[in-house]
Amino acid sequence: MCGIFAYFGPKEKAADIVLKGLKKLEYRGYDSWGIAAKQKDGRIYIEKHVGKISEVISLEDSLTSPSHLAIGHSRWATHGGVTQFNAHPHADENNKVVIVHNGIFENYAELKQELIEDACLFSSETDSEVLAHLIAKNMDEGFEKAFQKAISRLKGRYAVLAICEDEDKLIAARRGSPLIIGQGEDTYFVASDVPAFLAYTKEVMYLDDEQMVVITKDGATFSSLESGKTIKKRLISIDWEVEEAEKGEYPHFMIKEIMEQKDTLSRTINTAEAKLNEIAKLISRSDRAYIIGCGTAGYVAHIGEYLFAEIANKEVIMRPASEFHLSARFLTEQSVVIAISQSGETADTLEALKLAMNAGAKIVSIVNVESSTMARISDKILPIKAGPEKAVASTKATTAQIAILTLLAHASANKLDEGRQLLIQTMGSINDMLNPRYEDHITSIAGNIMNVQDIMVIGRGISHPVAMEAAMKMKEVSYIHTEGFAGGELKHGPIALIEEGVPSVVIAPDDNFKNEILSNAMELKARGALIIGVSPENAEVFDYWIKTPSAKHANAITHIIPLQILAYKLAVLRQHNPDMPRNLAKSVTVK
Ligand code: G6P
Repeated sequence: MCGIFAYFGPKEKAADIVLKGLKKLEYRGYDSWGIAAKQKDGRIYIEKHVGKISEVISLEDSLTSPSHLAIGHSRWATHGGVTQFNAHPHADENNKVVIVHNGIFENYAELKQELIEDACLFSSETDSEVLAHLIAKNMDEGFEKAFQKAISRLKGRYAVLAICEDEDKLIAARRGSPLIIGQGEDTYFVASDVPAFLAYTKEVMYLDDEQMVVITKDGATFSSLESGKTIKKRLISIDWEVEEAEKGEYPHFMIKEIMEQKDTLSRTINTAEAKLNEIAKLISRSDRAYIIGCGTAGYVAHIGEYLFAEIANKEVIMRPASEFHLSARFLTEQSVVIAISQSGETADTLEALKLAMNAGAKIVSIVNVESSTMARISDKILPIKAGPEKAVASTKATTAQIAILTLLAHASANKLDEGRQLLIQTMGSINDMLNPRYEDHITSIAGNIMNVQDIMVIGRGISHPVAMEAAMKMKEVSYIHTEGFAGGELKHGPIALIEEGVPSVVIAPDDNFKNEILSNAMELKARGALIIGVSPENAEVFDYWIKTPSAKHANAITHIIPLQILAYKLAVLRQHNPDMPRNLAKSVTVK
């Protein structure tokens, strides 16, 4: 949710370095963008636009003199429409102080009123602009003091960067939204996510909540926002490769990441036995165990609920993280909350974990970004090691999360080896499945249904959350209205939507529910639906058949992958960019 990036260093092309870095963060928000560069003559040059940044090559020609310090922002609108005025950076009326902001200042309205009464002139409808004016008002006390004073008045969640005309300094602060400092030779980067500066350095320092950092040519000084006390930071080396964060030969990140699923599971399979057993013990000793997440991670949590019940005979209750308050009141110090998240920064999930922490419950997080806030506030972490996931629609992180839950459920049943064997076999069948012929077959099905208004997806048992996840994938990238249901629920309402030719995806793995789901397919067909069967075996009721490997407790993995491909193909055939669906962002850091 909004990407922010800054460069401070000896190179005199700061604006272009920030431009390049912002492109790597565009997945976080892409309705508008902007950059502010501090020029050698002291003045700050600002450029901002509505739309995607991808096509812009250079800004250097617009600058009147070279720049060694620049900040940038790619926006996912919260307060104020998508306009050039509302795009970041924002400045005070004299262009002396310039800021970018990710998050929401909850008390901005009263502060704005006060600033207007103080004769400040606002040029946007955003909550963010108040910060530039608040800093500018106190600049006679020096930039750092003015910044601290301003930030102490703000409520809400934020990651902010600020520069000013009078001093050669970059200041950053965070409360609730991520900020990472990359350190190169005499060079500093500040970004919402590592890929922005991965091409320059892998040495990072994490800014924690309620902290700020002041960067000058002499170095970076971290301090507490509350006490002002200096904080020492450790330099950490990260192990992501530049290529992992690039599209390579693929037209989109989404298909690259779908194909990477041939390999990602192997890293999950190697998760240390001791760690899995330790967490399994925690779960089996708990008085209550919940599993939470948002969006796709929420559906993974739901799949996890089935895995624990079916493999370990253990009830682990799924809740959407944004509604966890319902259950949080029942937590005790003996409870466990398992959080699922790719980014580890989703505000709704973090908020739910805060409730769990307050109750003294143990927190286990299953995350992709190991350095994320979620990972750092958890008692135990299970990193999924899927590598950077850039497409907004999650694919490889999804199956890696399901895989780790499969292992954890097996560990809870004291049969971890069986779980590992199952995943090793599953990996083999995914490798066989993901071939060009398979992709072509799905492309031709997508071609036949690409112009429909609605698609239905049904499944029973563990295929119920798989159906909901598949439906989400299809609607978010193709914009075709798609709904996922439990097969048994169909007759209680959704079947009213079925008419001649409505494509209905029927997920029918080789499990206890196969006959029942095929009966549901018949009910749909009797009302005119076009049946797309996703199953290890063909059935008479199917109009189209997408063959899947039979994978027992790993069926959720082998049956979601072809539907990820179908979603991708539908998006591309309908000429939408699947990597950046409208109105969405990869990491949602507001509630
Ligand atoms: C956003 C994304 C979804 C994602 C959800 C949770 O809404 O658009 O694709 O599933 O956040 O993200 P997380 O990083 O917590 O898995």
